[in-house]
Amino acid sequence: MTEFRRRRADFSSFLLDLLTRQLDELGRDRAQPYDIVDLGGGTGGVATALARLGHRVTVVDPSPDALASLERRTVDAGLQGLIVGRQGDASDLVDVLGPASTDVVVCHRVLDVVESAPDALAATAAVLRPEGALSLLVAQRDATVLSLALAGHVALARRAYADRTGFDVEQVVALVQQAGFTVVAGHGIGAISAFVPEPVLDAEPGARTELAALEAEVSQDPAFRSLAPYLHVFARLS
Ligand SMILES: C[S@@+](CC[C@H](N)C(=O)[O-])C[C@H]1O[C@@H](n2cnc3c(N)ncnc32)[C@H](O)[C@@H]1O
Repeated sequence: MTEFRRRRADFSSFLLDLLTRQLDELGRDRAQPYDIVDLGGGTGGVATALARLGHRVTVVDPSPDALASLERRTVDAGLQGLIVGRQGDASDLVDVLGPASTDVVVCHRVLDVVESAPDALAATAAVLRPEGALSLLVAQRDATVLSLALAGHVALARRAYADRTGFDVEQVVALVQQAGFTVVAGHGIGAISAFVPEPVLDAEPGARTELAALEAEVSQDPAFRSLAPYLHVFARLS
C-alpha cells in the first residue's frame, strides 16, 4: 500500500509539472491567471495545486462528500476565493457554468466514469471560451492490466481486462478531435515507473532521480506512451 501511494504521488507530481508548463506556454502572451474548471475534480488535489499558482478554479463534481472535503482542504490551504465547489456532473456542465465561461477544463480520471465520453467532451468544449484548453487524463486499459498483474493483483487485472471501458491513444485522440479540439501534446504517465519495483529503487543510490528523468524522456515516445497506465492529452479548441 505504501508502494502504491508513493507511486501515485510520483505520477501526480510528474503530471502537475507537465500541466504547469503547458499552462505557462498557453499564457505566454497574457499575464492574467486563468479561470479553470476541474470537472470531476473530487476532493481537489489538482484544484489546490492550480490555485496555488494563482488560477481561479471551479470544481464541478456530483459527490457531496467530495465537495465537503474540497471545502475543508481549501480552508486548510488558505485558498478561499480561489477555489469554488459546484455540485454537478458532465451532463449538466453547461447549465451549471454557462456556455463559453472558462479558459481551461481539467478532466482527469473522469472520462471512464461518465455515461457518454463523447457527450462529456462536447460539454467541455461548450463551456470553453474560444481557443480554450483541455487537460485530459485517462487510464489506458492494456497498461492498467499489465501493471496490476505485475503488482500481483491478478484478479483485479483480469477484471480490468474483461471491462472493455478503458481507452487507448487512438481512441482518445479521435474523441478529442470529434469534440472540436486540436491535440497539442500527448504524454504517457508512468510508462516505466509503474513497472519498477520500489525495493529496486531503494537499493540503488540516485535511482529515483534517474527514473524521474527517464520517465520524462520517454513520455512522448509512442512505443513507451502506449505502456503507460495513464495518458495525458493537452488540447485546444480548434
Ligand atoms: C477517480 S475520481 C478522479 C478525481 C480527480 N479528478 C483526480 O484525478 O484525482 C472520479 C471523480 O469523478 C466524479 N464523477 C463521477 N461521475 C461523474 C460525472 N458523470 N461527471 C463528472 N464527474 C463525475 C466522482 O465524484 C469523482 O470525484
